[in-house]
Amino acid sequence: MKSKIIIFGASGQIGKSLIRKLTKSNYRVIAITRNLHQKGYVLKTQSNAGYLEIIETSIFNEKKINEAIKDADICINLIGILFEKGKANTFKNIHENFPSFLAKICKKNNVKHFVHISALGIDRAKDSKYALSKLNGEKNIKKNIENYTILRPSIVYSRDDSFTTNFMSLLNLLPFFPLYYNGKTMFSPIHCSDLVKIIFEVVNREIKNVTIDCVGPQNLSLKEMIQLLLKSIKKKRLLINLPIFFAKFSAYIFEKLPKPLITLDQIKLLKYDNLTSGNFKTNFDFEIPSKLKFEDEVKKYCHMWMKEGQYSKDEYKTNNNS
Ligand SMILES: NC(=O)c1ccc[n+]([C@@H]2O[C@H](COP(=O)([O-])OP(=O)(O)OC[C@H]3O[C@@H](n4cnc5c(N)ncnc54)[C@H](OP(=O)(O)O)[C@@H]3O)[C@@H](O)[C@H]2O)c1
Repeated sequence: MKSKIIIFGASGQIGKSLIRKLTKSNYRVIAITRNLHQKGYVLKTQSNAGYLEIIETSIFNEKKINEAIKDADICINLIGILFEKGKANTFKNIHENFPSFLAKICKKNNVKHFVHISALGIDRAKDSKYALSKLNGEKNIKKNIENYTILRPSIVYSRDDSFTTNFMSLLNLLPFFPLYYNGKTMFSPIHCSDLVKIIFEVVNREIKNVTIDCVGPQNLSLKEMIQLLLKSIKKKRLLINLPIFFAKFSAYIFEKLPKPLITLDQIKLLKYDNLTSGNFKTNFDFEIPSKLKFEDEVKKYCHMWMKEGQYSKDEYKTNNNS
């Protein structure tokens, strides 16, 4: 069997897909979750029997994490948040303190490769708390462990995401859709399985001591992505450019919700393009090209938001009058 890999944040969009890819290729995986009752059933079905061990722990329980890491050769950190909640779930705690704490434990236990998922575009967006905390998290890792790889993905989408799926729900419901910054912010959307392929290659080929911008095959503006989502679900909606004052006011209201649709910090983040900076190599430079195109992939799971669900698809349309 190959090396043993411990994954933090394994129950998320990227984590589940990564467990499938790694265990299929004979890696043994230890998945860390905060809530076995809630996430156990999802995690258990991602791998063949015998390849996956699941451990429930708080991410700051030093004793338990030390114990779990003793057995691991490689550590992958996928833990991240989009909004802050209460005193513990702050950007500083999750994106800065935790990676630092984890890197130190990995070093102490002679983990030979530490892979950390950061985010694209964080150098420019210094007025965003999210971006700044991701940037500081990267610095903390470099300070505390030698054998690291930092991956900076643009927006990651799949049937399991909270981006295209939430947007399609809203586009389905609302007669109009607000655009912040006229929808001009540019992204390089990457499909979750293309990103997982990059993580897999980084581990398998032991690509270390490097930061890699992880980008998709196309650059699209937010407006273009919304138009492609509308085309996929066969809906027409009025796209309204929201003046920044109203954008901020709506975010101020929305961020009070238990799971905010948008926050003031995300409005700041949206000011900046989410494209490769040119300061780091991209996955294409490492010959790990992302190939999946936004429109083609969304088409595979968008039927839930279409008028007749699965039966809206052309292949289900029949002339059967019987
Ligand atoms: N999705 C994107 O578009 C995107 C873009 C750029 C960068 N990234 C980064 O990629 C990483 C993985 O993204 P993802 O989309 O897979 O995230 P996700 O679906 O939100 O999952 C992250 C996992 O982290 C754990 N987690 C979340 N909040 C936590 C907290 N407060 N304390 C401890 N654990 C917590 C959860 O696991 P348990 O509930 O099982 O503990 C969750 O399943 C993150 O670092 C994210 O910032 C994502």
